[in-house]
Amino acid sequence: MEIQKKLEEIKKEALEIIKNTSDLSKLEKVRISYLGRKGELILIIHNLKDLPSSERPMVGKLSNEIKKKVENAITQRIQEIKISETDKEESIDITASPPSVYSYGYFHPLTLTLNEMIDIFKNLGFQIIEGPEIESDWYNFEALNIPSEHPARDLQDSFYLDKDTLLRAHTSAAQVRYMERHKPPIRIIVPGRVYRRESDVTHSAMFYQLEGLLIDNQVTMADLKGVLVTFIKAFFGPKRNVRFRPGYFPFTEPSMEMDISCGICQGTGCRSCKFSGWLELLGSGMVHPKVLKNSGIDPQKYQGFAFGIGIDRQAMLKYDIDDIRLLYENDLRFLEQF
Ligand code: PHE
Repeated sequence: MEIQKKLEEIKKEALEIIKNTSDLSKLEKVRISYLGRKGELILIIHNLKDLPSSERPMVGKLSNEIKKKVENAITQRIQEIKISETDKEESIDITASPPSVYSYGYFHPLTLTLNEMIDIFKNLGFQIIEGPEIESDWYNFEALNIPSEHPARDLQDSFYLDKDTLLRAHTSAAQVRYMERHKPPIRIIVPGRVYRRESDVTHSAMFYQLEGLLIDNQVTMADLKGVLVTFIKAFFGPKRNVRFRPGYFPFTEPSMEMDISCGICQGTGCRSCKFSGWLELLGSGMVHPKVLKNSGIDPQKYQGFAFGIGIDRQAMLKYDIDDIRLLYENDLRFLEQF
């Protein structure tokens, strides 16, 4: 296989260069050229998803092994260089502890996913905003047209601190909070943690969402679809298809949900997608006039759209992770794969 040969060549070349480098700053340059963000090896690992699925596991395993080897060789070389420099100075520090082997840190898959999402929305002109995780009943529910007796609350039965304060159940809570203080045009994304009383392989009591909100005049569903499709194609690549389904959220009207074609079976149906060929990805819709009114914005003059994407879900789909809990267990054997 072409790529396998290439990887072996990279390994051979890298180990050779490392062995022959005797200067710490040059060694750092070597490290960056293989293991930096745009490093040769890292690029291969990041582009694994473009390989045919039959080759992916083998190439993934091999490239990770080589990455480890190269890292270890660099760490070892650093120690050797340091030792030989001390030797040159002829100063022997008998109190020095033996050289410890250290390794480089990695970004968590959720951070990788979020950073990539933020990059895409930044390019689309969205500003990044944060909202509080401890939220009032008003912003989390009431202002979003979810009164206390509304059945939609059941789905988000969350953690209350007292009668009127809770851990926010969705990032939509940031919508009215922001609109109260800013005049249109508004174009923001709000990433952050949210909390719900649920837990299984695809649900965690704490998880991450990214809210999008755009308010202006003459905004239509076409704009909403345009933004979402652009985002998905940028994030998952051009091969994945999307479809829109009618949905229901009290704070958007009309509402729609978006599905993405299953990456494992390419849409033909398999266990991962429950044989439907599609996976649910996000909720969205045109901001309800009541929500605009609650924010002091005139719905006759302005309209807009909102969407909420699960960041964990996005990461799971991107990296083929089948249990959400892996994202929160901090098991290095898992985390080092990214
Ligand atoms: N807040 C919704 C949820 O958590 C998602 C959503 C956001 C839907 C914005 C429509 C508009 O399920």
